[in-house]
Amino acid sequence: MQIFSALSASSAVNNLNPMASPITTIAEIGKHEGQAVTIRGWLYNLRESGKLLFPQFRDGSGVIQGVVPKNAVPAEVFDAVKGLTQESSVIVEGKPRADKRAPGGFELDVLNVQVVQRVSEADPYPISLKEHGVDFLMEHRHLWVRTPRQAAILRVRAEIIKAARDFFDDQGFTLTDPPILTPAACEGTSTLFPVDYFDEQAFLTQSGQLYIEATAAALGKVYSFGPTFRAEKSKTRRHLTEFWMVEPEVAYAELSDIMDLAERLVSFLVNRCLEKRRADLTTIGRDISKLAKIEVPFPRISYDEAVKMLQEAHAKGALENKFEWGGDLGSPDETYISSQFDRPVMVHRYPAKVKAFYMEPDPQRPELALCVDVLAPEGYGEIIGGSQRMASYDLLVKRIHEHGLPEEAFKWYLDLRKYGSVPHSGFGMGIERAVAWICGLEHVRETIPFPRMLHRLYP
Ligand code: 4AD
Ligand code: MG
Repeated sequence: MQIFSALSASSAVNNLNPMASPITTIAEIGKHEGQAVTIRGWLYNLRESGKLLFPQFRDGSGVIQGVVPKNAVPAEVFDAVKGLTQESSVIVEGKPRADKRAPGGFELDVLNVQVVQRVSEADPYPISLKEHGVDFLMEHRHLWVRTPRQAAILRVRAEIIKAARDFFDDQGFTLTDPPILTPAACEGTSTLFPVDYFDEQAFLTQSGQLYIEATAAALGKVYSFGPTFRAEKSKTRRHLTEFWMVEPEVAYAELSDIMDLAERLVSFLVNRCLEKRRADLTTIGRDISKLAKIEVPFPRISYDEAVKMLQEAHAKGALENKFEWGGDLGSPDETYISSQFDRPVMVHRYPAKVKAFYMEPDPQRPELALCVDVLAPEGYGEIIGGSQRMASYDLLVKRIHEHGLPEEAFKWYLDLRKYGSVPHSGFGMGIERAVAWICGLEHVRETIPFPRMLHRLYP
C-alpha cells in the first residue's frame, strides 16, 4: 500500500481501474475484437505523423500499436499521447481491430488514455530504441529487461524451467532441494566462493549432486533445481559465476541409462519451446528450422573418437592447436565437435584425470571415467555434464585423498557407500547454457534476469 500512495502522490492516478471497460492483456486482446477493453502498461514507442499518432504500448505480455486520430478522439486524449515520453506508464482504453500486418495480429483504436506517470523530458528513459553498447545495457539491466526481445528470452527461460520440472515430475522423480551453504567442494576446490559461517568456513554450493546422491538412496529417482556458484575467473560467453542447474540422480542406473535420460530431456525441452514459445523465439530472431531437427537419438561418440576428430581437424587446418589425448576439451574443441552435428552430441568416457573425483572408472579401461558431456549444436558447447558415481568405499576414499579433499567433510558422503551402496548415476544441465542455445544467443548474460560474472555484480 505504501507504493500506491507514493505513486498517487506523484501522479494523477490513484485508481488502477479508471476506465469503464474490462481489463485485459495485450496477449489476450484478440479475444475482445471490436469491444472496448482496458490495458495497463507502458509507452514503448511513439510515431507521430501530424494529426495521427501511433503509440506502441507494452504490458509485459506483448506489444500492440495504437492508433490515435486527432479528429476521432477527445482533445485531451490526443494531447496526453502527443509528445508522451518513452516508458511513461499508461492505462489505455481501446478497441482491438484485426490487422494482418501487426506483429500480434491486432491494432488498437484508442478511446481513452490515462497517464500514470509521465517520464520527465529532463531525465528521459536511458535505453532509447537506437543501438546501445553491451556495457551500457548491462549497467542498465534493470531497465533493459523491458525490451521485448529481452522479455521474450525470459519467457523462454521460464518455459524451459517449467518443462524440465514437468519432465521429471511426470516420470516419478521427487524434487529434493540440496543446501546452498556447504562445508566442502563438489566440482573441485579452485572455484569455491567462501562464506563466513559463524566463524566456520563454508562455501556456496557448486552443484547439488552429492546431496541428491543421498536423497536418491532414500527416494530412488530424485532431482534438484537451484542456484549454483563457481568462482571462475573466465570471461567466456558461456560462463556465469552464479547459474541455475537442474540435476537428476537415479539409483540403480548406469551411464547408458542417464545418457538416454539426457537426450529425452533435451528433446522434450526443445519441443515444448517450439509448441508454446514459437512467437517469442521469432521475436528473438531464432532460426526455428534448426530446433525442429532436435530429435532422439542423439549421436554418441567416445572421447577417443572425439580426439581423433580434433586431430583430423587440425591436420586439415580447421583447428589451430593439435589436441593431445588426455586433456580436457576446451571451448574451441567443443565448438568444433558440436558444429559437426545438427543435433546435440554426447561425448562419453573422458580420461578420469580431467574429471571430478566421484566418477566411476570404466571397468574395461580404468583410466577412463564413466561420464558424459552433452554438447549442443551450432557451437554452443557443453550444456550437460554427468556420470555414473563411484560405488566403492575404498576407491572413493582414495580419490578424495588424491584430489586433496578433506576426508572429514565427506564422511557422510562415504556413508552412502557403506550402507547399501548401489550403482547410481546422474547429470546436471545448466539452465543458462540451454536457454542460450535454444534462443540462439551470443552470450549467456542475456539468459538470466541479473547475470553475475567476473566483473559484474551490479545491478
Ligand atoms: O559439468 P558440471 O560441472 O557438472 C556438475 O556440476 C555435476 N555435479 C552435475 C551432476 O552430475 N549432477 O556442470 C553441469 C552443467 C554444465 O554442463 C553447464 O551446462 C553448467 O552446468 N555450467 C555452467 N553454466 C554457466 N556458467 C558456468 N560457469 C557453468 N559451469 C557449469
Ligand atoms: Mg562439465
